[in-house]
Amino acid sequence: MAIVIVCPKCAKRHKVNLDTVKEKISLGKKIVARCKACRHRFPVQLDTLINQKKERFQGPKTTSPRKICVTLSKGGVGKTTTAVNLSAGLALAGHKVLLVDTDTQGQSSYGLGKKPRAGLSELLTKKLAPEECIVRARKNLWLLSGGKSLTEIKRIIDRKNFGAEWTLSEAMNKLDHRYDFVIIDTAPGWDQLTVNVLFYGTEVLVPVALEVMPLHGLSEFMKSLGAIQKYRKETVLKYIVPTFMDARIKGPAFIYSQLEKLYPELICTPIRYSESLSEAPSYGKSIFEFAPGCTAAADYKELVRKVTLDKSALL
Ligand SMILES: Nc1ncnc2c1ncn2[C@@H]1O[C@H](COP(=O)(O)OP(=O)(O)OP(=O)(O)O)[C@@H](O)[C@H]1O
Ligand SMILES: [Mg+2]
Repeated sequence: MAIVIVCPKCAKRHKVNLDTVKEKISLGKKIVARCKACRHRFPVQLDTLINQKKERFQGPKTTSPRKICVTLSKGGVGKTTTAVNLSAGLALAGHKVLLVDTDTQGQSSYGLGKKPRAGLSELLTKKLAPEECIVRARKNLWLLSGGKSLTEIKRIIDRKNFGAEWTLSEAMNKLDHRYDFVIIDTAPGWDQLTVNVLFYGTEVLVPVALEVMPLHGLSEFMKSLGAIQKYRKETVLKYIVPTFMDARIKGPAFIYSQLEKLYPELICTPIRYSESLSEAPSYGKSIFEFAPGCTAAADYKELVRKVTLDKSALL
Protein backbone atom coordinates (compact mmCIF):
# COMPACT_ATOMS: atom_id res chain seq x y z
CA MET A 1 0.00 0.00 0.00
CA ALA A 2 1.32 3.48 -0.92
CA ILE A 3 1.48 6.37 1.55
CA VAL A 4 2.59 9.98 1.10
CA ILE A 5 5.60 11.57 2.82
CA VAL A 6 6.15 15.32 2.45
CA CYS A 7 9.65 16.81 2.52
CA PRO A 8 9.73 19.48 5.29
CA LYS A 9 12.33 21.50 3.32
CA CYS A 10 10.96 21.73 -0.22
CA ALA A 11 7.38 20.42 0.41
CA LYS A 12 7.75 17.83 -2.39
CA ARG A 13 5.30 14.95 -1.89
CA HIS A 14 6.66 11.42 -2.29
CA LYS A 15 4.71 8.22 -2.65
CA VAL A 16 6.27 5.42 -0.61
CA ASN A 17 5.32 1.78 -0.57
CA LEU A 18 4.54 0.95 3.07
CA ASP A 19 5.70 -2.65 2.58
CA THR A 20 9.30 -1.43 2.09
CA VAL A 21 9.42 -0.06 5.66
CA LYS A 22 7.13 -2.62 7.28
CA GLU A 23 9.97 -4.46 8.97
CA LYS A 24 11.45 -1.30 10.49
CA ILE A 25 8.00 -0.28 11.79
CA SER A 26 7.44 -3.64 13.44
CA LEU A 27 10.88 -3.45 15.11
CA GLY A 28 10.15 0.13 16.25
CA LYS A 29 13.24 1.38 14.35
CA LYS A 30 13.87 5.01 13.37
CA ILE A 31 13.08 5.79 9.73
CA VAL A 32 15.07 8.48 7.95
CA ALA A 33 13.96 9.58 4.48
CA ARG A 34 15.90 11.45 1.79
CA CYS A 35 14.01 13.79 -0.51
CA LYS A 36 14.67 12.87 -4.15
CA ALA A 37 14.10 16.49 -5.19
CA CYS A 38 16.32 18.49 -2.77
CA ARG A 39 18.23 15.57 -1.17
CA HIS A 40 17.27 16.77 2.34
CA ARG A 41 17.40 13.98 4.93
CA PHE A 42 14.68 14.00 7.58
CA PRO A 43 13.21 11.66 10.21
CA VAL A 44 9.77 10.22 9.54
CA GLN A 45 7.54 9.66 12.53
CA LEU A 46 6.24 6.13 12.77
CA ASP A 47 2.93 7.46 14.07
CA THR A 48 2.49 9.37 10.82
CA LEU A 49 2.89 6.25 8.74
CA ILE A 50 0.61 4.17 10.92
CA ASN A 51 -2.05 6.92 11.00
CA GLN A 52 -2.10 7.20 7.24
CA LYS A 53 -2.46 3.45 6.92
CA LYS A 54 -5.37 3.38 9.38
CA GLU A 55 -7.09 6.35 7.80
CA ARG A 56 -6.93 4.73 4.39
CA PHE A 57 -8.61 1.65 5.77
CA GLN A 58 -11.30 3.61 7.56
CA GLY A 59 -11.85 5.94 4.63
CA PRO A 60 -11.73 9.72 4.98
CA LYS A 61 -14.43 11.43 6.98
CA THR A 62 -15.94 14.36 5.15
CA THR A 63 -18.34 15.99 7.60
CA SER A 64 -17.34 18.77 9.96
CA PRO A 65 -16.34 17.69 13.48
CA ARG A 66 -17.75 19.06 16.69
CA LYS A 67 -15.25 21.62 17.92
CA ILE A 68 -15.18 22.08 21.69
CA CYS A 69 -13.02 24.78 23.31
CA VAL A 70 -12.11 24.05 26.93
CA THR A 71 -11.44 27.48 28.28
CA LEU A 72 -11.54 29.98 31.13
CA SER A 73 -9.14 32.86 31.72
CA LYS A 74 -8.57 31.80 35.31
CA GLY A 75 -5.64 29.42 35.82
CA GLY A 76 -5.63 26.02 37.51
CA VAL A 77 -9.37 25.32 37.23
CA GLY A 78 -9.02 21.95 35.47
CA LYS A 79 -8.95 22.95 31.78
CA THR A 80 -6.15 20.59 30.78
CA THR A 81 -7.41 17.79 33.03
CA THR A 82 -10.84 18.11 31.45
CA ALA A 83 -9.55 18.43 27.87
CA VAL A 84 -7.35 15.33 28.25
CA ASN A 85 -9.92 13.14 30.01
CA LEU A 86 -12.86 14.22 27.89
CA SER A 87 -10.78 13.46 24.77
CA ALA A 88 -9.66 10.10 26.16
CA GLY A 89 -13.24 9.23 27.15
CA LEU A 90 -14.66 10.17 23.75
CA ALA A 91 -11.96 8.07 22.08
CA LEU A 92 -12.79 5.09 24.32
CA ALA A 93 -16.44 5.51 23.37
CA GLY A 94 -15.39 4.97 19.74
CA HIS A 95 -15.19 8.53 18.41
CA LYS A 96 -12.23 9.82 16.45
CA VAL A 97 -10.79 12.68 18.47
CA LEU A 98 -8.12 15.31 17.88
CA LEU A 99 -6.86 17.04 21.04
CA VAL A 100 -5.29 20.41 20.25
CA ASP A 101 -3.09 22.04 22.88
CA THR A 102 -2.88 25.82 22.43
CA ASP A 103 -0.96 26.41 25.66
CA THR A 104 2.76 27.17 25.80
CA GLN A 105 2.94 24.94 28.92
CA GLY A 106 2.32 21.89 26.69
CA GLN A 107 0.59 20.00 29.50
CA SER A 108 -1.86 18.04 27.34
CA SER A 109 0.91 16.04 25.66
CA TYR A 110 2.53 15.45 29.04
CA GLY A 111 -0.77 14.18 30.44
CA LEU A 112 -0.90 11.55 27.70
CA GLY A 113 2.75 10.62 28.09
CA LYS A 114 3.78 12.00 24.69
CA LYS A 115 6.68 14.25 23.72
CA PRO A 116 5.97 15.07 20.09
CA ARG A 117 8.76 16.71 18.14
CA ALA A 118 6.29 18.82 16.19
CA GLY A 119 2.82 20.20 16.80
CA LEU A 120 0.54 23.19 16.41
CA SER A 121 3.42 25.61 15.96
CA GLU A 122 4.83 23.73 12.93
CA LEU A 123 1.31 23.45 11.50
CA LEU A 124 0.63 27.18 11.78
CA THR A 125 3.99 28.18 10.32
CA LYS A 126 3.57 25.50 7.62
CA LYS A 127 7.06 24.21 8.44
CA LEU A 128 5.71 20.66 8.29
CA ALA A 129 2.80 18.93 6.62
CA PRO A 130 -0.25 18.26 8.86
CA GLU A 131 0.49 14.50 8.94
CA GLU A 132 3.86 15.27 10.50
CA CYS A 133 2.47 17.63 13.15
CA ILE A 134 -0.23 15.29 14.45
CA VAL A 135 0.73 12.26 16.52
CA ARG A 136 -1.39 9.30 17.46
CA ALA A 137 -1.69 9.18 21.25
CA ARG A 138 -4.10 6.27 21.68
CA LYS A 139 -6.60 4.27 19.64
CA ASN A 140 -9.00 6.89 18.16
CA LEU A 141 -7.07 9.73 19.80
CA TRP A 142 -4.66 12.08 18.05
CA LEU A 143 -2.70 14.99 19.42
CA LEU A 144 -1.63 18.36 18.05
CA SER A 145 0.71 19.46 20.77
CA GLY A 146 1.42 22.91 22.20
CA GLY A 147 4.53 24.04 24.02
CA LYS A 148 7.03 26.88 24.15
CA SER A 149 7.25 27.28 20.38
CA LEU A 150 3.74 28.76 20.42
CA THR A 151 5.21 31.98 21.85
CA GLU A 152 6.58 32.77 18.39
CA ILE A 153 3.18 32.00 16.84
CA LYS A 154 1.56 34.60 19.08
CA ARG A 155 4.03 37.18 17.75
CA ILE A 156 3.25 36.18 14.15
CA ILE A 157 -0.49 36.50 14.81
CA ASP A 158 0.02 39.89 16.50
CA ARG A 159 1.92 41.21 13.49
CA LYS A 160 -0.84 40.37 10.99
CA ASN A 161 -2.63 43.42 9.59
CA PHE A 162 -5.96 41.71 9.09
CA GLY A 163 -7.62 38.31 9.53
CA ALA A 164 -5.39 37.50 12.52
CA GLU A 165 -8.27 35.87 14.42
CA TRP A 166 -8.75 33.29 11.64
CA THR A 167 -5.16 31.97 11.66
CA LEU A 168 -6.01 28.80 13.58
CA SER A 169 -9.25 28.18 11.64
CA GLU A 170 -7.48 28.42 8.29
CA ALA A 171 -4.99 25.74 9.32
CA MET A 172 -7.50 23.48 11.07
CA ASN A 173 -10.23 23.59 8.43
CA LYS A 174 -7.93 21.72 6.05
CA LEU A 175 -7.55 18.71 8.30
CA ASP A 176 -10.32 18.56 10.90
CA HIS A 177 -12.86 16.70 8.71
CA ARG A 178 -11.03 13.47 9.59
CA TYR A 179 -12.29 13.61 13.19
CA ASP A 180 -15.61 13.41 15.01
CA PHE A 181 -14.45 15.76 17.75
CA VAL A 182 -11.76 18.40 18.03
CA ILE A 183 -11.12 19.30 21.68
CA ILE A 184 -9.04 22.41 22.26
CA ASP A 185 -7.19 23.05 25.50
CA THR A 186 -6.40 26.71 26.12
CA ALA A 187 -3.91 28.65 28.20
CA PRO A 188 -4.97 30.74 31.19
CA GLY A 189 -5.37 34.45 30.49
CA TRP A 190 -6.66 36.01 27.33
CA ASP A 191 -4.59 36.64 24.22
CA GLN A 192 -4.69 36.39 20.43
CA LEU A 193 -4.45 32.61 20.55
CA THR A 194 -7.50 32.40 22.84
CA VAL A 195 -9.38 34.64 20.39
CA ASN A 196 -8.29 32.34 17.55
CA VAL A 197 -9.58 29.31 19.46
CA LEU A 198 -12.97 30.96 19.96
CA PHE A 199 -13.16 31.91 16.28
CA TYR A 200 -12.44 28.29 15.34
CA GLY A 201 -14.46 26.29 17.88
CA THR A 202 -18.21 26.38 18.11
CA GLU A 203 -18.95 24.91 21.53
CA VAL A 204 -17.43 26.37 24.66
CA LEU A 205 -16.88 24.21 27.74
CA VAL A 206 -15.91 26.11 30.87
CA PRO A 207 -14.45 24.25 33.86
CA VAL A 208 -15.25 26.14 37.05
CA ALA A 209 -13.28 25.27 40.17
CA LEU A 210 -15.64 25.13 43.13
CA GLU A 211 -12.79 26.13 45.39
CA VAL A 212 -12.26 29.88 45.16
CA MET A 213 -14.38 32.78 43.89
CA PRO A 214 -15.47 30.99 40.73
CA LEU A 215 -18.41 33.24 39.91
CA HIS A 216 -16.26 36.34 39.49
CA GLY A 217 -13.92 34.57 37.03
CA LEU A 218 -16.89 33.18 35.15
CA SER A 219 -18.67 36.52 34.77
CA GLU A 220 -15.44 38.17 33.55
CA PHE A 221 -15.06 35.40 30.99
CA MET A 222 -18.71 35.77 29.90
CA LYS A 223 -18.02 39.43 29.07
CA SER A 224 -15.04 38.52 26.89
CA LEU A 225 -17.02 35.74 25.21
CA GLY A 226 -19.85 38.21 24.53
CA ALA A 227 -17.35 40.47 22.75
CA ILE A 228 -16.32 37.57 20.50
CA GLN A 229 -19.93 36.57 19.80
CA LYS A 230 -20.64 39.97 18.25
CA TYR A 231 -18.44 38.84 15.35
CA ARG A 232 -18.76 35.09 15.65
CA LYS A 233 -22.33 34.00 16.38
CA GLU A 234 -21.58 30.27 15.95
CA THR A 235 -19.51 30.18 19.15
CA VAL A 236 -21.79 29.36 22.07
CA LEU A 237 -21.32 28.48 25.70
CA LYS A 238 -22.62 24.93 26.01
CA TYR A 239 -21.18 23.35 29.12
CA ILE A 240 -20.22 24.56 32.57
CA VAL A 241 -18.28 21.80 34.29
CA PRO A 242 -17.81 22.28 38.05
CA THR A 243 -14.45 20.85 39.14
CA PHE A 244 -12.79 20.11 42.52
CA MET A 245 -16.13 19.15 44.07
CA ASP A 246 -15.49 18.15 47.67
CA ALA A 247 -18.60 16.93 49.46
CA ARG A 248 -16.83 16.91 52.86
CA ILE A 249 -16.94 20.69 53.05
CA LYS A 250 -19.89 23.04 52.62
CA GLY A 251 -18.35 25.68 50.33
CA PRO A 252 -18.19 23.73 47.03
CA ALA A 253 -21.73 22.35 47.38
CA PHE A 254 -23.05 25.87 48.02
CA ILE A 255 -21.23 27.32 44.99
CA TYR A 256 -22.49 24.42 42.89
CA SER A 257 -26.10 25.09 43.91
CA GLN A 258 -25.65 28.75 42.92
CA LEU A 259 -24.27 27.77 39.53
CA GLU A 260 -27.15 25.32 39.06
CA LYS A 261 -29.67 28.11 39.66
CA LEU A 262 -27.89 30.54 37.35
CA TYR A 263 -27.19 28.14 34.48
CA PRO A 264 -29.66 25.23 34.67
CA GLU A 265 -29.26 24.42 30.98
CA LEU A 266 -25.48 24.44 30.92
CA ILE A 267 -24.44 22.90 34.20
CA CYS A 268 -22.89 19.42 34.10
CA THR A 269 -22.39 16.81 36.80
CA PRO A 270 -19.45 18.02 38.91
CA ILE A 271 -16.03 16.41 38.74
CA ARG A 272 -15.21 15.39 42.27
CA TYR A 273 -11.91 16.19 43.98
CA SER A 274 -9.64 13.21 43.39
CA GLU A 275 -5.97 12.68 44.12
CA SER A 276 -5.81 10.20 41.26
CA LEU A 277 -6.58 13.04 38.86
CA SER A 278 -3.56 15.01 40.00
CA GLU A 279 -1.31 11.93 39.95
CA ALA A 280 -2.33 10.52 36.57
CA PRO A 281 -0.49 13.10 34.37
CA SER A 282 2.91 12.29 35.88
CA TYR A 283 2.36 8.69 34.70
CA GLY A 284 1.29 9.97 31.25
CA LYS A 285 -2.10 8.33 31.70
CA SER A 286 -5.70 9.40 31.42
CA ILE A 287 -7.89 8.77 34.46
CA PHE A 288 -9.48 5.81 32.63
CA GLU A 289 -6.06 4.16 32.40
CA PHE A 290 -4.65 5.27 35.76
CA ALA A 291 -7.62 4.69 38.08
CA PRO A 292 -10.62 3.46 36.09
CA GLY A 293 -12.60 2.67 39.24
CA CYS A 294 -12.20 6.06 40.94
CA THR A 295 -14.90 8.68 41.38
CA ALA A 296 -13.27 11.10 38.91
CA ALA A 297 -13.30 8.43 36.18
CA ALA A 298 -17.03 7.98 36.79
CA ASP A 299 -17.53 11.77 36.62
CA TYR A 300 -15.62 12.13 33.34
CA LYS A 301 -17.61 9.20 31.90
CA GLU A 302 -20.75 11.13 32.80
CA LEU A 303 -19.36 14.16 30.97
CA VAL A 304 -18.74 12.01 27.88
CA ARG A 305 -22.40 10.89 28.04
CA LYS A 306 -23.59 14.48 28.35
CA VAL A 307 -21.46 15.68 25.42
CA THR A 308 -22.39 12.76 23.14
CA LEU A 309 -26.03 12.67 24.31
CA ASP A 310 -25.45 8.95 24.61
CA LYS A 311 -26.61 7.65 27.99
CA SER A 312 -25.05 4.24 27.43
CA ALA A 313 -21.58 5.53 26.43
CA LEU A 314 -18.81 3.89 28.49
CA LEU A 315 -21.25 2.06 30.76
N1 LIG B 1 -10.95 17.21 40.23
C1 LIG B 1 -9.66 17.33 40.58
N2 LIG B 1 -9.22 16.82 41.76
C2 LIG B 1 -7.94 16.95 42.15
N3 LIG B 1 -6.99 17.54 41.42
C3 LIG B 1 -7.34 18.07 40.22
C4 LIG B 1 -8.70 17.99 39.75
N4 LIG B 1 -8.74 18.59 38.54
C5 LIG B 1 -7.49 19.02 38.28
N5 LIG B 1 -6.65 18.71 39.27
C6 LIG B 1 -5.23 19.07 39.39
O1 LIG B 1 -5.16 20.48 39.58
C7 LIG B 1 -4.07 21.05 38.88
C8 LIG B 1 -4.60 22.09 37.89
O2 LIG B 1 -5.38 21.42 36.92
P1 LIG B 1 -5.21 21.74 35.36
O3 LIG B 1 -3.77 21.75 34.97
O4 LIG B 1 -6.10 20.82 34.63
O5 LIG B 1 -5.78 23.21 35.34
P2 LIG B 1 -5.69 24.27 34.14
O6 LIG B 1 -6.94 25.07 34.20
O7 LIG B 1 -5.40 23.57 32.87
O8 LIG B 1 -4.43 25.12 34.57
P3 LIG B 1 -3.74 26.26 33.67
O9 LIG B 1 -4.68 27.42 33.69
O10 LIG B 1 -2.44 26.52 34.36
O11 LIG B 1 -3.57 25.68 32.29
C9 LIG B 1 -3.36 19.90 38.21
O12 LIG B 1 -2.31 19.49 39.04
C10 LIG B 1 -4.42 18.80 38.14
O13 LIG B 1 -3.85 17.51 38.13
MG1 LIG C 1 -3.86 23.88 31.44
